[in-house]
Amino acid sequence: MNFYTLSLFPDMIANCFNTSITGRALAGGKLTLENINIRDFANNKHMKVDDYPYGGGAGLVMQAEPVYGAYEHARNLITKRRKETGRKTTTPVRVVYMTPRGETFTQRKAEELVRHRELIFLCGHYEGIDERVLEEIVTDNISIGDYILTGGELASLVVMDAVARLVPGVLHNDESAVTDSFSDGLLEYPHYTRPEVFHGKRVPEVLLSGHHAKVDAWRLEKSLEITKRIRPDLYEEYMRKGSK
Ligand code: ADE
Repeated sequence: MNFYTLSLFPDMIANCFNTSITGRALAGGKLTLENINIRDFANNKHMKVDDYPYGGGAGLVMQAEPVYGAYEHARNLITKRRKETGRKTTTPVRVVYMTPRGETFTQRKAEELVRHRELIFLCGHYEGIDERVLEEIVTDNISIGDYILTGGELASLVVMDAVARLVPGVLHNDESAVTDSFSDGLLEYPHYTRPEVFHGKRVPEVLLSGHHAKVDAWRLEKSLEITKRIRPDLYEEYMRKGSK
């Protein structure tokens, strides 16, 4: 999986993504990440990439030209990589714009996005980006929730992290993605490790029994109980459809 980001703060993305499991996956070549600075495509000597909104109002709007320049650069890198790896594909590249105006991100969306070899993430700042360039390049508008961030960088990191861990080989066996919350539509059961007693609280007896069927039944029961209490919407959905 090859990620490309278009942003005014590429270091913010690089520093975070280069850490922990995603950092290991970058080092091991399971993922690649190119952070393209939109400011490098400014067309003036002050390297300005924003301007006042037509029609007036507060805030500045990111201009179409530098955003388009950064996008073209990403496209060129993708074409080059496709050639180098002998991939003849002409599949259109998905361009994900991180915006509170987008569809809310879910595990299902992560499962859809991971099917693509390349993804471009566009991160805005200020009041937004000139609509004309968005109309031209964006294929997906994604929000990570009903709140406003200062920019799209953190949001794109959230989406990239969720997609990255679905790429085969990114998680090791002991970090398996299969039993996680949401993979079957339920929230996860509680976990315990040594010691057997902590602050007077014992690990549930069934987990020490070595009886796998009973452990599985207990975990499902806990998952159902927790989902019903915390996310009744997911619980109802699960009960309606049954597990996948
Ligand atoms: N940019 C600013 N706020 C955002 C949000 N909630 N989701 C995605 N991108 C954003």
